[in-house]
Amino acid sequence: MRRARDASLGRSGCMTGKQWAPPPDACAAWDILCRCGPYGALSPSRGEPPAANYEEKEVLIMIKISPSILSADFANLERDIKRIETADLVHVDVMDGIFVPNITIGIPVVKSIRPTTQLPLDVHLMIDRPVRYVEEFCKAGADIVTVHVEADTEENTQKALDIIHNCGKKAGVVIKPKTPAEAVLPFLEKCDMVLVMTVEPGFGGQSFMADMMPKVKQIRAWIDEKNLDCDLEVDGGVDPVTCKVVIENGANVLVAGSAVYKAADIPARIAELRG
Ligand code: DX5
Ligand code: ZN
Repeated sequence: MRRARDASLGRSGCMTGKQWAPPPDACAAWDILCRCGPYGALSPSRGEPPAANYEEKEVLIMIKISPSILSADFANLERDIKRIETADLVHVDVMDGIFVPNITIGIPVVKSIRPTTQLPLDVHLMIDRPVRYVEEFCKAGADIVTVHVEADTEENTQKALDIIHNCGKKAGVVIKPKTPAEAVLPFLEKCDMVLVMTVEPGFGGQSFMADMMPKVKQIRAWIDEKNLDCDLEVDGGVDPVTCKVVIENGANVLVAGSAVYKAADIPARIAELRG
């Protein structure tokens, strides 16, 4: 759980103690920020007076887990996707051998796995000039498509985000470890998600780069300052230890490949990663 004290909490749901506030759908529908009072009461934060039982206090942000199927058994992909059904998203790593030095899966696999789960497909495109393919990934069943800012010009990245939105899907940008936080700024207002890499993209099972945390913190500050409805995701080396610092710095969506699939008890590991 991520703790926060003010109103800048995103709309991903919240709870006080053990009591859940109304579900995320309600937050979105009412266009309010989730702020929990002592009894889980919500207070509209845009010009509305607080509810009688509302009192500003520390709240806990719901953390979403997006297990990466890069660490699954590709010969048993359906089985391995069903194993993560207590997670919030399915992270699909698409690599082209050009943008990153590895090749994984593509459009036909996204299409095949779409009917195997109710969870949203969180498709991370590690491909050169993704604008060429985003529409096909959307049509194949992706729910969220993220593209690297390093993979094309700013103009084409904007175009890619627009195409994804025109397909009715969520869109986001990703930055590699050597890319500064500022690189997301031209796209931030358009993003449903920003993904900060905490390993060099290309392979699962690498060590977490803790020095990326100031970048996560900075992007969280911008999202909150601008009051954007944008998730902040971290990908690479996330495990039951590193998840804590990731959450402390403001991420609310955690990708984990090896930490999930190597666990003896996958649902317990997913719960553990929520912090
Ligand atoms: C790396 C991928 C990650 C990777 C994460 O390029 O984007 O999603 O699968 O794997 P772990 O959690 O093992 O670092
Ligand atoms: Zn990824």
